[in-house]
Amino acid sequence: MSLNLDTMLCSFMAWFLGIAVIVLFIKKYMQGGQFTKQTNETGKIVIVTGSNTGIGKETVLELARRGATVYMACRDKARTEIARLEIIEETKNNNIFFRELDLASLDSIRKFVADFKNEEDKLHILINNAGVMRCPRMLTKDGFEMQLGVNHMGHFLLTNLLLDLLKKGAPSRIVNVSSLAHTRGSININDLNSEQSYSEGDAYSQSKLANVLFTRELAKRLKGSGVTVNALHPGVVDTELGRHMKILNGAFGRIVLRTLLWPLLKTPKSGAQTSLYAALDPDLENVTGVYFSDCKEKQVAPAATDDKTGKLLWEESEKWTHLKKLD
Ligand SMILES: *[C@@H]1O[C@H](CO)[C@@H](O)[C@H](O)[C@H]1NC(C)=O
Ligand SMILES: *[C@@H]1O[C@H](CO)[C@@H](O)[C@H](O)[C@H]1NC(C)=O
Ligand SMILES: *[C@@H]1O[C@H](CO)[C@@H](O)[C@H](O)[C@H]1NC(C)=O
Repeated sequence: MSLNLDTMLCSFMAWFLGIAVIVLFIKKYMQGGQFTKQTNETGKIVIVTGSNTGIGKETVLELARRGATVYMACRDKARTEIARLEIIEETKNNNIFFRELDLASLDSIRKFVADFKNEEDKLHILINNAGVMRCPRMLTKDGFEMQLGVNHMGHFLLTNLLLDLLKKGAPSRIVNVSSLAHTRGSININDLNSEQSYSEGDAYSQSKLANVLFTRELAKRLKGSGVTVNALHPGVVDTELGRHMKILNGAFGRIVLRTLLWPLLKTPKSGAQTSLYAALDPDLENVTGVYFSDCKEKQVAPAATDDKTGKLLWEESEKWTHLKKLD
């Protein structure tokens, strides 16, 4: 009898270990391309938006390790301070700073840039990382639908206001964290602000498609300036971006779905690799207007090569953000 129990226990353990090994193997495989080239970023000035958690935080951590001076541009002071001190502690790089930036407010963006220009006279790398995903319909301070407002309009204004510093820092790079979701997106030019109808998923995909369209349009405008701009898909990453996805937040979602999904998700550290690759790989010095995934160049969706829509959206965004009035 006891022998039987022992055998049962043994075979149960064997199964359990076998499955655990397979799951870990899948998890490892799903981490995707890693950026392992050694570089020294001492003296480089970098801004990373939305960098107090997830991919953004991991990106700052690695930049700090490589010696860069990094400005963490975030909304939440308390949370960013915690992340910032952790990063300094781990890397012994004291040149990591918090500057307040709320991408859902044009005033906040203008103030951030004005203050930044008092501190630095050039910028080498801008990583547009902050993003909102699939939230209920909400509006920014200026009345823009939140996902289009933060993911696209806010970064549009920020990037444009920082262009002169980027040109002074040339060779310099703009890195746009977009998403594979852009392939499902379409630009609803007649109802950009989703006033007639709103779907969380469609608004998200639209904002991410806008990122890719803009990357291409901006790359054209910056030809010959020494400033490159590229977009990327970080992978499906286990971060707080999913906080608005109801299905993942109920008891069932938290316990069952998240456990089943776990082997398939990238860690934030792996999610940061393509951003680091786009920002730092010396081979990409002259590469602009392209889209990366897993530390490799990738084709964009056909809708993202529609340069006419890209131009239209650019003009629309200039109006929304009052960019023209400034110069
Ligand atoms: C990086 O370069 C700086 C000078 O630009 C130098 O002081 C530092 O030691 C270098 N760091 C590494 C890890 O090589
Ligand atoms: C990418 O860069 C363009 C260029 O200005 C900007 O409009 C767009 O919003 C950026 N995307 C992200 C995610 O920051
Ligand atoms: C980029 O272009 C410059 C000027 O044409 C050239 O000197 C440099 O070697 C190029 N860099 C790479 C990595 O191809």
